[in-house]
Amino acid sequence: MIPFGDPSASYQAHKSDIDQAIKRVLDSGWYVLGTEVDAFEKEFASFHGKDFHAVGVGNGTDAIALCLRGLGLGSGDEVITPSHTAVATVAGIEQAGCTPVFADIDPNTRCISPMSIEERVSTNTRAIMPVHIYGQPAEMHKILEIAQAYNLAVVEDCSQSHGAEINGQKVGTFADISAYSCYPTKNLGGTGDGGVILCRSKEFTEKIESLRQYGWNEARESIIPGFNSRLDELQAAILRVKLHHLADDNAKRRAIALRFNQAFQDLPITLPTLSENELHAMHLYVIEYDRRNELMEYIRSHQIGASLHYPLPVHQHAAYANRIRGCENLQVTNQFYQKNLTLPMYPELSNEAVEHIISTVQNWFREKN
Ligand SMILES: Cc1ncc(COP(=O)(O)O)c(C=O)c1O
Repeated sequence: MIPFGDPSASYQAHKSDIDQAIKRVLDSGWYVLGTEVDAFEKEFASFHGKDFHAVGVGNGTDAIALCLRGLGLGSGDEVITPSHTAVATVAGIEQAGCTPVFADIDPNTRCISPMSIEERVSTNTRAIMPVHIYGQPAEMHKILEIAQAYNLAVVEDCSQSHGAEINGQKVGTFADISAYSCYPTKNLGGTGDGGVILCRSKEFTEKIESLRQYGWNEARESIIPGFNSRLDELQAAILRVKLHHLADDNAKRRAIALRFNQAFQDLPITLPTLSENELHAMHLYVIEYDRRNELMEYIRSHQIGASLHYPLPVHQHAAYANRIRGCENLQVTNQFYQKNLTLPMYPELSNEAVEHIISTVQNWFREKN
């Protein structure tokens, strides 16, 4: 079976550097929040430009909660976000004690619709959390305009979009503060849980550093109620290796996506847009098609790990159903979930596998239509 993502292929591609990094950490005897985390934070920040700071944390969900807590948000504060996202986005908002509100998506970007955000703003709204879903940048310029007009904070969920750009500017650098997951399947993924927060202000960075470890100051006195959400040295050392290859790996993903798009351009399916002024991080390659279930079954029977991201939008999960404002008016999201289908996408996907995926999809249309 060709999997839809393959963290072990990423390890094999960078094996000797990763093995050396692991050995270096094990020999050091220092395993959590040490020199590797410091170095990763510096390297990750400078990957985004010279004005940034980064804080390594336990995972992407904690990163979201810490961003909101760092902004001083909590009970009663509404955060507008899409329902078309990983459940983690919403779990992170609730972990911070905030109230998620769902906005619809734009059918072209599949990211949060600026118009729908504006429709949802209330007197309790404090922040907007766009998600650059599948690696496609959200419409940050419009979102920032709305945020300014209503005096709202913006937190970007960049968990699927490490290295994506809009007009040469990296996602994560548009907002006040941004959250990233470094879970193994991500474009920048470790071999366990991990996350990172990108911020502009030094003062804010220090607050997040304190919040990630019991709200401690330098004397280890808890000055604010905090979390335990630390990044470990092994993950940081591995992420340093992977960061080095991120831009190249994303370019490989885009080249594969371009081949798929060219091969499928005459088929009656909606393809991801690769626009000229944006760098799509192509975390997932997702098409839309009316007979999605039949096509999925067919390509799975040809050893291709087609999948759904996601099987349900967050507002249809039992834990969130009918209790989140905005859920009754998500037409574009609901339509999208009738048609979405994820094909395999990772930098190490072989030429042979790409050809097999292309010919299988094309054959289905020849045979069944
Ligand atoms: C969009 C999005 N946000 C947040 C997360 C949370 O990341 P983690 O699994 O590291 O907590 C993920 C990862 O699944 C994600 O895809």
